[in-house]
Amino acid sequence: FAELFRGKMPSRRFFISFFLFSICLICCHEAMPANLKQEKLNNRPVIGVLTQMVSDDVMKPFGATYIPDSYVNYIESGGSRVVPISRLTLSTAEYESIFTKINGLVFIGGAVDLMTSDFARVAKIFYKLALTANDAGDFFPIWGTCLGMQLLTVLVAEENLLSATPARNVALPLNLTTEAHSSRMFQGFSKELIKALTEEPLTGNFHKYGLTVQAFQENEKLSGFFSLLSTNVAENGAQFVSTIEGKRYPFYGVQWHPEVNRFQWNRNFSFPHSSYAIQLSSQLAEFFINEGRKSFHHFDSREEEDASLIYKFTPVYTSNFTAYEQVYFF
Ligand SMILES: *[C@@H]1O[C@H](CO)[C@@H](O)[C@H](O)[C@H]1NC(C)=O
Ligand SMILES: *[C@@H]1O[C@H](CO)[C@@H](O)[C@H](O)[C@H]1NC(C)=O
Ligand SMILES: *[C@@H]1O[C@H](CO)[C@@H](O)[C@H](O)[C@H]1NC(C)=O
Repeated sequence: FAELFRGKMPSRRFFISFFLFSICLICCHEAMPANLKQEKLNNRPVIGVLTQMVSDDVMKPFGATYIPDSYVNYIESGGSRVVPISRLTLSTAEYESIFTKINGLVFIGGAVDLMTSDFARVAKIFYKLALTANDAGDFFPIWGTCLGMQLLTVLVAEENLLSATPARNVALPLNLTTEAHSSRMFQGFSKELIKALTEEPLTGNFHKYGLTVQAFQENEKLSGFFSLLSTNVAENGAQFVSTIEGKRYPFYGVQWHPEVNRFQWNRNFSFPHSSYAIQLSSQLAEFFINEGRKSFHHFDSREEEDASLIYKFTPVYTSNFTAYEQVYFF
């Protein structure tokens, strides 16, 4: 004690409060249920976003990789901060280090090769780390949107099973499966929201390729790993996988774009903005961040955390030449 308070005698009041505090600790400890550790949550989660490679000519002058602000806003709206994983050329050891500091990961949309691109290479490193961590009881969620969902299917199947399933610029209701009704993703949804989700066009689709329901069902790795929560019909009549969630792992995929409902407004795109569309987007963001709260990865110091967050980057105004309002370039 003397060591602790050298140079300044603690007051008598301090000793009394310390004594009471100790008693409280002991009492609480006695009363602590065995599973309290699992119920403990991390209320300062940080979600990593793997940057996407610029493929669109109009974006090339601004940087090599990017993250649309809509994904950042989406994650922040669930009560998390965002760490951009801005470089796709780091070593495996460097990504391993980043992995120990973030509480979840998002794979965003884009247009790159899912087997050979740097985006796919880095995603695979994180995917393997997440598998190992979850197996060891170190909870770590991953979310994939559009190309990000397709990427999850390539990582699980260890091959690219995508085919043409065009749904270009169209908002659709989801055809929910029976499994959707016992899913984690839709668990917190009200009856009204589920009804709206299946009857009204609340999900924006902007893709040419996807995974057919048949390819999903015929591949044992995929159908063993993921529950199929919803399907949709493409322009060419193909039934495609539109929502999946891991059976054993907290990995989630949507072929559609929940972030556009609240954060993209270009009139040339079918971005759903109805009240239910907003609810859908909000609830899924909150759902995923709640998953992130179960992870206790953390930075080595507050300084390191501050230096890694997206706040120090300034997005570029892109509303007049892309579908995004603002974009972070790296
Ligand atoms: C919805 O999915 C089921 C299979 O789960 C399929 O039989 C049905 O045709 C689909 N309906 C629509 C409208 O896509
Ligand atoms: C929508 O598309 C039209 C035709 O391509 C274009 O002239 C217009 O600038 C676009 N509007 C926006 C808001 O991007
Ligand atoms: C978009 O708007 C910004 C800001 O007004 C302007 O500087 C830029 O030239 C515009 N870009 C295009 C492609 O119109």
